[in-house]
Amino acid sequence: MNFDRYILITGGAGFIGSHLVRKFVTEYKNYFIVNIDNLTYASNITSILDLEREPNYKFIKGDISDTSIIKNVFDDFKIDSIIHLAAESHVDNSIENPLLFVQTNILGTINLLEEVKVRWANSNSNHLFYAISTDEVYGSLGKKGEFSEDSPYLPKSPYSASKASADHFIRSYGNTYGIPFVISNCSNNYGPNQHTEKLIPLTIKNVLNHKKIPVYGDGQAIRDWIFVLDHIDAIDIVFHKGIIGETYNVGANTEIRNLELVQLLCVLIDKKIGSKNSENLIELVADRPGHDKRYAINSSKIINQLDWSPKTKFKKGLQITIDWYLDKLVK
Ligand SMILES: NC(=O)c1ccc[n+]([C@@H]2O[C@H](COP(=O)([O-])OP(=O)(O)OC[C@H]3O[C@@H](n4cnc5c(N)ncnc54)[C@H](O)[C@@H]3O)[C@@H](O)[C@H]2O)c1
Repeated sequence: MNFDRYILITGGAGFIGSHLVRKFVTEYKNYFIVNIDNLTYASNITSILDLEREPNYKFIKGDISDTSIIKNVFDDFKIDSIIHLAAESHVDNSIENPLLFVQTNILGTINLLEEVKVRWANSNSNHLFYAISTDEVYGSLGKKGEFSEDSPYLPKSPYSASKASADHFIRSYGNTYGIPFVISNCSNNYGPNQHTEKLIPLTIKNVLNHKKIPVYGDGQAIRDWIFVLDHIDAIDIVFHKGIIGETYNVGANTEIRNLELVQLLCVLIDKKIGSKNSENLIELVADRPGHDKRYAINSSKIINQLDWSPKTKFKKGLQITIDWYLDKLVK
């Protein structure tokens, strides 16, 4: 059977990747999707096991920084585009073990670029290296302002430095070797299937287990949140309509202080399961070293040029997320 496109999605067993793989495999029957993921602790392959029976899908357990595995993938499938998500993604872990982030996020990305440099020497209009990056590459904001696509890269954690470095390499391969690329930089995602090390699922889990909910510092750091399926729609649109060599910022204009968010979650969960005063479980703990104070992203470029907009209201998205974790965590 021949397909119109052969797309390699990296990190497709992770939080965002699993939603993306599901959308592309089920909505684009004319695309063949190869999902490569080495199944780190952060992955959850069981959430997409049902896709294994689809004729347009293949999962490969492998490390993106392993040259021979990537060569084999390109030998076995006529990969014409990559949507690259595989990464170490937790800032706290990057503070503990920066080299792991260099290995996966930087060297893994370069390994993919080196392969496409050779494989895509004869250009084809389907060729595309699409990197899913983060707003954290822009650093931290003061009280005012927003990140735009023109904001300078000022990463402040080993995680964001590794993502920034990967972005720089992608742009340099585009400039030097003509590799067609596009990059989108997204704000904090939330939704089903995120590892419980991250703030929102951690809060839900700890409320359910009557455990303390740690919040860094004074809890006043501000994050800008987007429901994961809105991000997936943005990725779909950038993949199909994004202009080669461009960057698109993606966010949902939903800034909230960490403490306020955790308090809101406690109220919503209490209402849902009939528990009381879960807010009392909140505990302010020593701040994360170098903790970024505020992120806020301006998405007007993708909204105006590619006709994308986020659909999910914050409270609605939180309800969906809480329901999903209640279903998974309460056995
Ligand atoms: N979660 C967010 O809020 C957010 C926001 C903006 C951008 N991003 C970016 O989106 C991408 C996905 O983020 P996520 O939250 O889904 O992360 P995640 O940690 O949930 O998933 C990452 C996936 O990559 C896989 N992986 C890790 N190292 C690998 C390797 N060497 N080879 C193959 N697979 C490997 C893991 O097994 C996991 O399944 C990342 O590149 C991240 O930087 C995330």
